[in-house]
Amino acid sequence: MPFEHLIDLNDFSVKQWNDIISLALDIKKDEKKYSKVCENKIMATLFYEPSTRTQMSFQTAMIKLGGQIIGFDNPQNSSVAKGENLTDTIKIVSGYADILVMRHMLEGSAKAAAMYADCPVINAGDGGHLHPTQTLTDLVTLQSEKGRLTDLKIGLCGDLKNGRTVHSLIKALSMYKNNSFVLISTKELCVPQYIKDWMDKYNCPYKEVFSLSEAMAELDVLYMTRIQRERFESPEEYERQKNVYVLDTKKLFNAKKDLIILHPLPRVDEIELSVDKDPRAMYFKQAVYGVYARMALIMTLLEMKPKGSLISHNHSSTICKNPKCITNHEVYLEKSYKQSGDLIVCDYCDDRQLL
Ligand code: NCD
Repeated sequence: MPFEHLIDLNDFSVKQWNDIISLALDIKKDEKKYSKVCENKIMATLFYEPSTRTQMSFQTAMIKLGGQIIGFDNPQNSSVAKGENLTDTIKIVSGYADILVMRHMLEGSAKAAAMYADCPVINAGDGGHLHPTQTLTDLVTLQSEKGRLTDLKIGLCGDLKNGRTVHSLIKALSMYKNNSFVLISTKELCVPQYIKDWMDKYNCPYKEVFSLSEAMAELDVLYMTRIQRERFESPEEYERQKNVYVLDTKKLFNAKKDLIILHPLPRVDEIELSVDKDPRAMYFKQAVYGVYARMALIMTLLEMKPKGSLISHNHSSTICKNPKCITNHEVYLEKSYKQSGDLIVCDYCDDRQLL
C-alpha cells in the first residue's frame, strides 16, 4: 500500500506547509499537550551520511511525542557493510518501524527508498539534491521570528550549487508572495539551472552577485552556508572555494536592524564566532525550531492518507546522466523521466537532458 512521504516539500501544497508550521508553533507553546500522541509508534533513522542536528532533532522530536526510536548512524555497523542494497534495507526496516527517516549521499535516494517502503519515508537529505525538513525548520523560524513568509528579500550565500538546503529553501519561498532572492556565490558554486528555472516559473525575481558586503544593506534574511567539501571532485577545487565568504561584524555594519541571519549548520568558518553575540544571529535558535518542525511533520505524516505512484514510468530505457543519481548505483531501479518542453527530467534526482 502506498504511503504519504516527504521527499520534496513541493509535493505538498502551501496550505499543507502552513498547517505544519502552525502545528509546530502550537507545539512550541505547549509541548506537554503532545507528549503522548505517538505512544506505541516507532521511528527508524537511517543515516548513511554524517549528521548531528537532523538526526538528533528527529530523535528528540519522536521521544517528545511519546514514541520510540531505532536505527543506525553508521551504515558500516549494519548489513550495508555486507553488501545489502538500499531497497532491501528499507523493506526490512520499514517492516519494523511506523515511519522512516533517511539521509543518503546519492541524489534521488529518498524517492527510491519511498518506492520500496512499507511506511512513510522522510527525506533527511539526498546528496546535493534536497533537504525538505531543514526547509520546514527554516520556515518555522522565519514565521516565528520575522512574523511572515512573504515580502522578504533573502540573500543566500556560499555553496549554492551543492547546498541541498539552499535548493529546498528557494523552491519553498518562491511559492509565497513578493519574495525575491540575492544569490551570493562564486561563478563555480552558483545555483543549478533547474532552480533558476523554478524561480522563473513562479515569477520570483532573483539576481546573482559576487559581493556579500555589497548585497548586505538590502537583505531581510541572510542565509549563510558551508562550502560542501564532501561533494567536490578534487581537494584542489575545494581549496580554491573555501574562505571566499566569511561573515564578520564589520560586514554587518550597514545591514538592516531587523535582519535575520540563518545557517543550517554545521558552520566551518563562514561565520566568525564574534557574530554569534549579534541579536540578529538566529542560527542556534533555528536548530531548536527544528525539533518543533519535525514533531509537527511526524504527526502529520502518521495521520495522512496514502497517495498514488511516485514516478511517472516514462522513458524507462534512458540512463540518467548524473553520476550522483541513485539509479546509476542501485542499477535495478526503474529509470523514469518527466517531460518538460524539450527536456526530460529524471524522476529521482531532477537531472535534465535533451529529449
Ligand atoms: C545541512 C545538510 O546536511 O545539508 N545540515 C543540516 O542538515 N542542518 C547543511 C550542511 O551540511 O552544510
